Amino acid sequence: MSLQGNIIGYIFTHKIDKDVQILNIAIDTAYQHKGYGERLLSYYMDQLDEDISIVLEVRKSNFPAINLYLKFGFSELGIREKYYNDGEDAIVMKMEFLTHGVV
Ligand SMILES: CC(C)(COP(=O)(O)OP(=O)(O)OC[C@H]1O[C@@H](n2cnc3c(N)ncnc32)[C@H](O)[C@@H]1OP(=O)(O)O)[C@@H](O)C(=O)NCCC(=O)NCCS
Repeated sequence: MSLQGNIIGYIFTHKIDKDVQILNIAIDTAYQHKGYGERLLSYYMDQLDEDISIVLEVRKSNFPAINLYLKFGFSELGIREKYYNDGEDAIVMKMEFLTHGVV
């Protein structure tokens, strides 16, 4: 994602057939809390077919990201214990049957 020629964010995904995994999404710290993360995720999801399912892992403590995903209609599927190198658990979140835009 670029703003006036500067890259301020990105999203990395992995897609096999109808299954998408969001590997990472990030907005430059200086540009966070201004709606760019929401716009970037919306832009990406608008490119997908409606019968796609999306999964992702997010740190249990990462409330900004968890709230972003909840806002888009993701729900918690389970926990992967000690998923990260520092021992923190991951929450697995999933969205079945994509709904476009923010719900
Ligand atoms: C997660 C991230 C991409 C959100 O991007 P952003 O541009 O700051 O988010 P937006 O301004 O578009 O906010 C969209 C929604 O996200 C949630 N959110 C964003 N920042 C938040 C915060 N500090 N606290 C709680 N919720 C937050 C809210 O639900 C917000 O909607 P609202 O404004 O109506 O409350 C950004 O915080 C980031 O880059 N974090 C570091 C990288 C990271 O952790 N990525 C996720 C990996 S799984």
